[in-house]
Amino acid sequence: MRIIEAKDYEDVSRKAADIIGAQIILKPDCVLGLATGSTPIGAYDCLAERCKNGELDFSRVSTVNLDEYKGLDKENDQSYYYFMHKHLFDRVNIDKARTHLPDGMEPDSDKECKRYEDLIAFMGGIDLQLLGLGHNGHIGFNEPAPAFCKETQCVNLTESTIEANKRFFASADEVPRQAYTMGIKTIMQARRILVVVSGEDKAGIVARALSGDVTPEIPASILQMHPDVIVVADKAALSK
Ligand code: F6R
Repeated sequence: MRIIEAKDYEDVSRKAADIIGAQIILKPDCVLGLATGSTPIGAYDCLAERCKNGELDFSRVSTVNLDEYKGLDKENDQSYYYFMHKHLFDRVNIDKARTHLPDGMEPDSDKECKRYEDLIAFMGGIDLQLLGLGHNGHIGFNEPAPAFCKETQCVNLTESTIEANKRFFASADEVPRQAYTMGIKTIMQARRILVVVSGEDKAGIVARALSGDVTPEIPASILQMHPDVIVVADKAALSK
């Protein structure tokens, strides 16, 4: 695991964009695994800027996202589909037919999870998976649990996640209760993983996930077992 210390959030974003940009330059038809949440937004801004300047070409890049709420349609401004278009896909020259997220409107969970796993395999796997880190150590919607979950699955959101996400909805009642997420095995099969973290509020979980015991109670701790992980974190997030 390589840990790159950044000065602040802007520096995290620039450094993460450097790594994603290098991946695109080295393999123009690469498969990027992408994340939502607040942390990657700055990196997406940098990538959009570099594409606009002609430094990066997304025309042959394919993407698969980590997760999507179940029950939210694409037009819903809280869907991850909407988020990805707003923050990245509508701002770069990517072929939208090559961008993929779990289909939140598919009611048949087994069918959708299998479709997504098959899709990732058909694409040849993920070259670079971007991850944020939840305060409880979650990655994607893989929450602390007695055992690591494996492939893409439909999960029930925990009360703490509903509580954390309710600020984006009119009320807690409107937060979806379920989501589709890549599983830990799916994430761990990515050839390279890039984790972005910022802020003192993440310092405790960064320390536990990166240098504590590997346990499903801290899902991100499994990343210690991956052969090619880069963590880009600011001083505040590394302060413990
Ligand atoms: C996003 C995702 C989540 C976030 C995590 C951190 O697709 O799956 O696991 O990466 O909740 O979110 P932020 O970056 O908002 O702290």
